[in-house]
Amino acid sequence: MIDIIINGCNGTMGQVVSEATLADPQVRVVAGIDARPQLIDNPYPTYDSLDACAVDCDVIIDFSRHDAVKPLLSAAAQRKIPVVVATTGLSGEDIAFLEEKSQDIPIFLSANMSLGINLLCDLVSQSAGVLSEDFDIEIIEKHHNKKIDSPSGTAYTIANTINEALSNSKTFTYGRHSKDNRRLQDEIGIHSIRGGTIVGEHSVLFAGIDEILEIRHIAHSKQIFAEGAIKAAKFLVSVKEPDIYDMTDMMAYQTQVTNIYTSKDAAMITLNSLPNSPKIVADIFKALGDSGINIDMISQTAPVNNRINISFTLPEKDLNKAIELIGPFNTRIGELRTDVFAEISKITVEGLGMEKQTGIAGKVFEVMADNDLSIKIITTSETKISFIVDMIDEENAMTALKNAFNL
Ligand SMILES: NC(=O)c1ccc[n+]([C@@H]2O[C@H](COP(=O)([O-])OP(=O)(O)OC[C@H]3O[C@@H](n4cnc5c(N)ncnc54)[C@H](O)[C@@H]3O)[C@@H](O)[C@H]2O)c1
Repeated sequence: MIDIIINGCNGTMGQVVSEATLADPQVRVVAGIDARPQLIDNPYPTYDSLDACAVDCDVIIDFSRHDAVKPLLSAAAQRKIPVVVATTGLSGEDIAFLEEKSQDIPIFLSANMSLGINLLCDLVSQSAGVLSEDFDIEIIEKHHNKKIDSPSGTAYTIANTINEALSNSKTFTYGRHSKDNRRLQDEIGIHSIRGGTIVGEHSVLFAGIDEILEIRHIAHSKQIFAEGAIKAAKFLVSVKEPDIYDMTDMMAYQTQVTNIYTSKDAAMITLNSLPNSPKIVADIFKALGDSGINIDMISQTAPVNNRINISFTLPEKDLNKAIELIGPFNTRIGELRTDVFAEISKITVEGLGMEKQTGIAGKVFEVMADNDLSIKIITTSETKISFIVDMIDEENAMTALKNAFNL
C-alpha cells in the first residue's frame, strides 16, 4: 500500500485525486494539506502546511498554487518525501528551487498528467522536424473560466518541445492584439481561450500553403489528470533515486520491452580479415547497394593487426548475387575469407523505453547464455536490439526471451 498526502486537497483537482484513490487498492490518502483546511470535511486529517502535519507518507501529490510549491518542497526535502508536482504556472525561480531540491528527493514534474498530451508532444516534435520550413506553427489552448494562469503550462510544454526539435530557432508570440506587423517565419503563436467548464483542449496547427495539419487533444474529464498523478506517485516510489522525472521517464520505465519478433528471410555474410581500409569497405558496400541489395544489420570488429571482420545481413534471395559481387574482392585482397550463413533467424527486442533503461542488452545475453543459445551478430539502436541466431534455436530463444521480459 502506498500512503499519499495531497497538497491542495480541498481544491478541484485535490478532490478528484482523493476520489480516484478510493478506486485503487494500491494507494490510500493518509492526510491532506490545504490553505483552507476547514473547507471540506475530508475522510483524512487535513492541515494547513506540511510542517504542521506529522503524518508519515510515501509520496506527496501536489495540485495547489505556484506559490505553494517552494515551501512544500522545502519541507518534503527535509523529510525525504518524494513529490509529484502537478501545479502549473511555476516561475523560473520556482523551477530553479525545484532543481535544487531534486538533489535530495525524487520529484515528478509535469504540467499535464495525461498520456494523450505526452503522445501529442512526440507527434508535434516529429511534425515540426518535417514541416517547419514552410508551415506556420500556432498553438491554441482552451480552459475553464476559473483557470488562473495563461497560457496553460501544457501550451508552454508543447511550444518548448517544438522549439527544441527546431534547435531553439523559434520565438513565442502570445496573442496578436495590437500588433501591426505581419507574422514572422520564426514565430510560434500561442493563444488562450477561457470559458465555461472546458476541462482542457490543446491544438497545434501547422498551417502551410493550401494545407493545414492540426494535432489536437481534448481532455473530457479531470479524472485523467488525477489518474496520471497517481501513476506518477507509484512510479516515484519505485525509482527512489533523487532527480527530476517526467511523463517520458515514466512511459520509458513502463515500456522497457514491448515487443519481441523474428524475421526468417535473412542470410548473413561475414568478411574475415579485411584490411582496415574505409575505401575497400565503401567499395564493397557500394557494389552491393548499386545492384539493389538491401543490407540490414552491419557489425564490424575493432582492428587487430590492421585487419577487421565485418558481418552483415541481407535478404536470403539476394545471397548468390552478393557472393558473386564479393568474388572480385576475394581475388583483390589476398587474405580475405568469406563465410556465408543461411538458415538463420533475426530476433528483435524492441521497446521505446530502452533508450532510458540500462541492463536490457545484459539481460538478453543472460537469457541466451542460460539457455545455451549463441548469438552470431548483434546490433543495437536507441529502441531496438537485433541479433542473429541459428534458425534451429529460434523457438527456444523466443520462448525464453518472452518469459524473461513478461511478454
Ligand atoms: N498537471 C496537470 O495535469 C494538471 C491538471 C489540472 C490542473 N493542474 C494544475 O493544478 C493546480 C490546481 O488546480 P485546481 O483546478 O485544483 O485549482 P483550485 O484552485 O481548485 O485548487 C487549488 C487548491 O490549492 C489550495 N492552496 C492554495 N495555496 C496553498 C498552499 N500554500 N498550500 C496548500 N494548498 C494551497 C487552495 O486552497 C485550493 O484548495 C493548478 O496549478 C492547475 O493548473 C495541473
